[in-house]
Amino acid sequence: MTSEQAKQRIEELTKQIEEHNYRYYQLAQPTISDYQFDMLLEELIKLENEFPQFLSPHSPSQRVGGTITKEFKTVKHKYPMLSLANTYSEEELKEFDDRVKKALNESYEYVCELKYDGVAIGLTYVNGKLKQAVTRGDGEKGDDVTTNVKTIKSIPLKLRGNNYPEEFEIRGEIFMPRKVFDEINKEREEIGDAPLANPRNAAAGTLKMQDSSIVAKRKLDCYLYFVLGENLPHQTHYENLNAAKEWGFKVPESVSKVNSIEEVFQFIKSWEQKRFTLPFDTDGVVLKINSYEQQRILGFTAKSPRWAIAYKYKAAQATTVLESISYQVGRTGAITPVANLKPVLLAGTIVKRASLHNADIIEKLDIRIGDTVFVEKGGEIIPKITGVDISKRDLFSQKTEFISHCPECNTELIRPEGLALHFCPNENGCPPQIKGKMVHFTSRKAMAIESLGEETIEQLFDAGLIHNIADIYDLKKEQLLPLERMAEKSAQNLIDGIEQSKKVPFERVLFAIGIRHIGETTAKKLAYYFKNIDALKSASKEQLLEVGDIGEIIAQSITDYFKNPQNVEIIERLKKAGLQFELSEEQLANTTDKLKGLTFVISGVFNKISRDDLKKLIEQNGGKNTGSISGKTSYLVAGENMGPEKLKKAQALGVKIISEDQFFELIQ
Ligand code: IVH
Repeated sequence: MTSEQAKQRIEELTKQIEEHNYRYYQLAQPTISDYQFDMLLEELIKLENEFPQFLSPHSPSQRVGGTITKEFKTVKHKYPMLSLANTYSEEELKEFDDRVKKALNESYEYVCELKYDGVAIGLTYVNGKLKQAVTRGDGEKGDDVTTNVKTIKSIPLKLRGNNYPEEFEIRGEIFMPRKVFDEINKEREEIGDAPLANPRNAAAGTLKMQDSSIVAKRKLDCYLYFVLGENLPHQTHYENLNAAKEWGFKVPESVSKVNSIEEVFQFIKSWEQKRFTLPFDTDGVVLKINSYEQQRILGFTAKSPRWAIAYKYKAAQATTVLESISYQVGRTGAITPVANLKPVLLAGTIVKRASLHNADIIEKLDIRIGDTVFVEKGGEIIPKITGVDISKRDLFSQKTEFISHCPECNTELIRPEGLALHFCPNENGCPPQIKGKMVHFTSRKAMAIESLGEETIEQLFDAGLIHNIADIYDLKKEQLLPLERMAEKSAQNLIDGIEQSKKVPFERVLFAIGIRHIGETTAKKLAYYFKNIDALKSASKEQLLEVGDIGEIIAQSITDYFKNPQNVEIIERLKKAGLQFELSEEQLANTTDKLKGLTFVISGVFNKISRDDLKKLIEQNGGKNTGSISGKTSYLVAGENMGPEKLKKAQALGVKIISEDQFFELIQ
């Protein structure tokens, strides 16, 4: 392909992909399958790698991330980012309206919007291209998070049409959809990491992550609510929001223009329950004067505009009685106390249970059996206990003692220093832990034994046929047939599925055995670094820390795992059964030790290889990737358009700077 042809094809693909992104993320009306979309994107990335001179910073390929930001630059907002006055009462809203009426002395319109519960962002566009994304910060100055924001698919990198001002800013709220939040927490729980507190904190934390490729995977979303600039097409807020929709921004359907405070109250009422059906958290309604001229007349106080106000929904509250506390044991042995409540109606649903989280929370609430408690449901779906009505407390009530022994296996619980959680340490003998381990082991991303799901595991465990993951490989068809719901065909399926799993590659087996804190990515890194389980088992903590992205907690967790003789025995049995505990010939053929002990930083764009493939090569040859230059860096691999800061730092520290060709010589 000539360079001219490549340029043309890149332009074509870019246009097509942008159009499909718009249809998918803005209109929710895709016209091609995910697979077809991935093919287009793959072709684009390949061409851009081959012809990097045509790679634009606004290319849709840039949405997959990969850039590391060590420190976010602080930038001053062109227009200060103010906050809104808040109220919980309709009375105060009425007073707000009276003030507006008096100051304007003419008719006016309000725009009603929901108050999205996330992180405020200001996006600057110049000539239709995203130039900068800045967080609110202190309102005067915020953090430049542009590289991370570029991975959010619903934020356009290039605008549609040509009807937009040359330069303008648009503000909105970045949030994490509840479904994504739940998925992330499920995964974290599976590998024994502490769950994220709520979608808003998760969104804020994600925006400030250093590795944008992880941001890309977290599927943040953004609603826009405010356009600012000199040459906007309209002199009214609502009409500008509609224009922004045309330019490709995501503006929710719920936005509504009304003529009186009575209609505002109707809007508030209509969303009070409906908001729980939305895929993200909302905590109120924002009310804005539509006309810019009238906004100017009303002006600002020191902190917030006089032409807008936020009405916050009161969290729905109810009182009920705490009947008992039960304790659940998770796969990692973590104990969660759960409040069993006298059923009570709350915001349309009957609440019977609420999590009490841990011993500290119980202590803080001083919650006791028989207490009358307050239950609340705020912007989120899960109810929580917010307090105790002490005036109703029984004189003889007893302080709640956290259990000392596991409710499932009676082992004495431990509480690791500095943690709020209690654990049952009997990881290989406690039923929910064993079952949980097996469910993880057979899951799709691990051994993928589809015929052995949660229910069947439960059944086999209860029948005494499996006590640990190694027992799965000793199962015989004859043992299965007498079981309920187990016909000849399903028994054969099960045996076949187990047999098939013996081919699953080493890195997935390593993920499947369920060492705490080892997710899919870490398992893969470890597999390629140590190449077989014996090398991993005998690795010292120092050696483990040599592997990129492995910190103290993971290193400790690995050494603890292999210190336990039961784990070692299980691995020996799995080995005998024929599972893959080393890289295959084919995988090995692509790996060497040539870069062992060397630490790399890569920067800029490369001609012969993509950044991701370069990183992979470093890892496959035993080297370590890091994001920032330090005294420990062995080489800086420099591409085109490398950051000047990196270059300066490397020179100052005497780090060797090499080109991609020189890198290839290293691994020749
Ligand atoms: S307008 C000057 N509209 O609430 C007016 N803000 O306390 C600027 N928010 O920092 C804000 N939904 O992060 C506006 N529909 C909405 C909003 C909204 C959520 C957040 C925003 C702002 C805070 C105001």
